[in-house]
Amino acid sequence: MLLNSNQRQKLDTGNDREFYDNPRFVTHVDEGFIDRLTTLYRERLAPDTRIFDMMSSWVSHLPDEMKFEYVQGHGLNQQELAKNPRFDSYFVQNLNQELKLPLEDESFDAVLNTVSVQYLQYPEAIFAEIYRILKPNGIAIFSFSNRMFYNKAIAAWRDASDADRVELVKSYFQSVKGFSSPEAIVHVSQVPELLRWMGAGGGDPFYAVVARKIA
Ligand SMILES: C[S@@+](CC[C@H](N)C(=O)[O-])C[C@H]1O[C@@H](n2cnc3c(N)ncnc32)[C@H](O)[C@@H]1O
Repeated sequence: MLLNSNQRQKLDTGNDREFYDNPRFVTHVDEGFIDRLTTLYRERLAPDTRIFDMMSSWVSHLPDEMKFEYVQGHGLNQQELAKNPRFDSYFVQNLNQELKLPLEDESFDAVLNTVSVQYLQYPEAIFAEIYRILKPNGIAIFSFSNRMFYNKAIAAWRDASDADRVELVKSYFQSVKGFSSPEAIVHVSQVPELLRWMGAGGGDPFYAVVARKIA
């Protein structure tokens, strides 16, 4: 197994569904991050394909002008998912309790996961499911920043540097035979020390790890 039981632990051990009981109509990352993500989707997704947007909420990061054949949503809060303008349908499922996706083999061209991978306690099982539901040559795009609900992130994530987190997500893909070698995309603004000292921030750092189903 990739992670030991300590690395899977969360500080808040309550049921994740209770944590997401009340909708949060917020965005979890800044505009710069979202722009980069939407640009990445524009470059890597094909129109008229089937998309699975997992661990999602009320906002879509898909490019407005792109039409897809079908967008399947998933998350933990029904009210948030009901507001997402891109979903053709959605389901609520706690992926730390029910590890099997209720989706057919080889039925999606792309699987998307935004700023949420840190909450998965059994990523090897979930990535195996992602592999199962992807069509051959289908793509999976996992994006994340350095923000999180700290008490709900697994220890392996909390204890890691940003660079280690990129390696961690790569290792999730590598734990499943048949994914291509994962590609990391990193955009971190370098703010000069003096400006940072004066309070200027560089925006949320952007990380994405991308792989395809090759076999
Ligand atoms: C920070 S939000 C990100 C939402 C969305 N991807 C976005 O970009 O706005 C984290 C999301 O992870 C999902 N999540 C967290 N724990 C989960 C779990 N145990 N099972 C399934 N989904 C979970 C919830 O749907 C929640 O909305």
